[in-house]
Amino acid sequence: MPKAYVFTRYGGPETEALVELDRPRPGPGEVLVAVRAAGVNPVDWKQRTGFRRPGESGERAFPVVLGNEAAGVVEETGEGVTGFAPGDEVFGNTVAGGYAEYALLAAGITAHKPAELSFTDAATLPVAAATAYDGVHQLGLPAGATLLVTGAGGGVGVAAAQIARALGLRVLGVASDGKKDLLESLGAVHVPSGDGWADAVRLTAPDGVDGVYDLVGGEVLHAAAGLVRDRARLITAGASPEDVERLGGARVGRARDAAVLRAVADLVVRGDLNPHVTLTFPLERAAEALHEVETGHARGKVVLEIGSPA
Ligand SMILES: NC(=O)c1ccc[n+]([C@@H]2O[C@H](COP(=O)([O-])OP(=O)(O)OC[C@H]3O[C@@H](n4cnc5c(N)ncnc54)[C@H](OP(=O)(O)O)[C@@H]3O)[C@@H](O)[C@H]2O)c1
Repeated sequence: MPKAYVFTRYGGPETEALVELDRPRPGPGEVLVAVRAAGVNPVDWKQRTGFRRPGESGERAFPVVLGNEAAGVVEETGEGVTGFAPGDEVFGNTVAGGYAEYALLAAGITAHKPAELSFTDAATLPVAAATAYDGVHQLGLPAGATLLVTGAGGGVGVAAAQIARALGLRVLGVASDGKKDLLESLGAVHVPSGDGWADAVRLTAPDGVDGVYDLVGGEVLHAAAGLVRDRARLITAGASPEDVERLGGARVGRARDAAVLRAVADLVVRGDLNPHVTLTFPLERAAEALHEVETGHARGKVVLEIGSPA
């Protein structure tokens, strides 16, 4: 039977297990893929703890397969699905987990994988890169404006910095010292995180920054709010809507459509976006992959390579 990496109840890593599960059957609007790669994101371990996305309700049936994005080869399509056929190479948002040999994608948030794009890179685009793309476009800053990105060395931050640079923005990226080289390779100005980071931003941008894309939340978000000239240009993916709205900003609005997936894939193909996959693991080592992300200090993206990724 096909393998999948699941959690068996809400809790910590001790609830995770590699199990055998029946191959899922695609329902209406779903696409069954043989997974070649699955992206690993903070939301995966948050869901294991019982976290739900805004608007999500209902009881989960355990075991729950971990993961929210995958790239693979179409095996079968569900009722009403057009535009995808068995053998197509695709990537998209999963319906019921991605850390598995077979996964269901939501057809409306699935796109064909360009031949130039590897399965491994494609698997990172639906969550991190698409969130980066949505946020940078939501800010709508003109070329030459200065964007501050906090958590700039993680999955969303690395993509946001590059998408912003491709639009002609100046990017100040807050990240730990070990990520200085990474930030500079993206064309961003590295601002070391920790005590004094906000003062360092003030020295670089004495009149304040034109926009903030926060990916950390908490005290970092609060400090960042004091650095932006117009709070309407303060957004976050790392804090609750209530926290950021209290400061006059907004949570990133997610498009969750295939057009954004095609747009970020084009950026990769054109060489404007490198997801920076820094660690890959086989499905059998999914625990280590998720642990890396759960530390909160991932560098770029972590991906599970399943079957034979190319
Ligand atoms: N709404 C959505 O649709 C959506 C989608 C994707 C992500 N998100 C959320 O957005 C956030 C970022 O996601 P991600 O995938 O980029 O996460 P990630 O890959 O884990 O990166 C987060 C980065 O934050 C930095 N960081 C952690 N603690 C910090 C602190 N106290 N001060 C300063 N920097 C700190 C880390 O960098 P250093 O090692 O340099 O400290 C790390 O690189 C998460 O909360 C995630 O759940 C939301």
